[in-house]
Amino acid sequence: MEFQHEIRRKKGKEKIIVLTAYDCQMAEVLDETGIDLILVGDSLGMVVQGHNDTKSVTMMDMLYHVKAVAKGAKNTPIIGDMPINSCNTAEKGLRNAEQFLKAGADGVKIEGNRPKVISALIEAEIPVMGHVGMLPQMAETYHVKGKKPEEAEEIFRDALDLDRLGVFSMVLECIPENLARKITDHVKTPTIGIGAGKYCDGQVLVINDMLGLNLKFKPKYVKRYADLNKVVKDAVTSFMKEVSVGKYPDEEHTYH
Ligand code: KIV
Repeated sequence: MEFQHEIRRKKGKEKIIVLTAYDCQMAEVLDETGIDLILVGDSLGMVVQGHNDTKSVTMMDMLYHVKAVAKGAKNTPIIGDMPINSCNTAEKGLRNAEQFLKAGADGVKIEGNRPKVISALIEAEIPVMGHVGMLPQMAETYHVKGKKPEEAEEIFRDALDLDRLGVFSMVLECIPENLARKITDHVKTPTIGIGAGKYCDGQVLVINDMLGLNLKFKPKYVKRYADLNKVVKDAVTSFMKEVSVGKYPDEEHTYH
């Protein structure tokens, strides 16, 4: 519960930094960097499972990865992403959110404006991160939402609803910068942007995207802070060469 206050405290003062993780070793690395939150996103449907979207991710998948991340992240709060159909009713949402906490999450993220589910969870003292704008669980194609005035108005109203419900933060995904700025200025809840411009209270990226592992997925908002695709290929090429010419294993890496 403590971490929610810290996230709220940062609004307008310090930027909030969030990254996704899906396994123990990446969680260990992120845990040592001092980021604010680790999100076990249902983006694992694409990143880990190789699907085109998040629509086939199950509770079992999510709990498996939350458990792995919880083994690695000893200090960083973990948010588990509630997958499609996991919170169609308040009862189901509550039952599944409790499973997330049991698996090691500190809170859950819920896509969309679901007042009954969100208030049931908050009533039960489960920290909830909201998510408005482009909603991958519902979208047919991934593109910027809120360019049309009526769409922008709906997203704005959804954000105000989530703010009233008491989520501890909300993701704004793929919306124009001006709309994200308006939301951020009107809500007391910290906003965490992904493809929503610089005025959000924090930013989140999918770890594999920002590390440059996946060269096929490059929406405008993704900045690659590393070129792990090249690093991995260079290392594997060196390994292949050294094994081929008998240079590896050498004395240093051999038991006697
Ligand atoms: O699933 C996910 O990783 C997410 C982030 C992109 C916000 O929802």
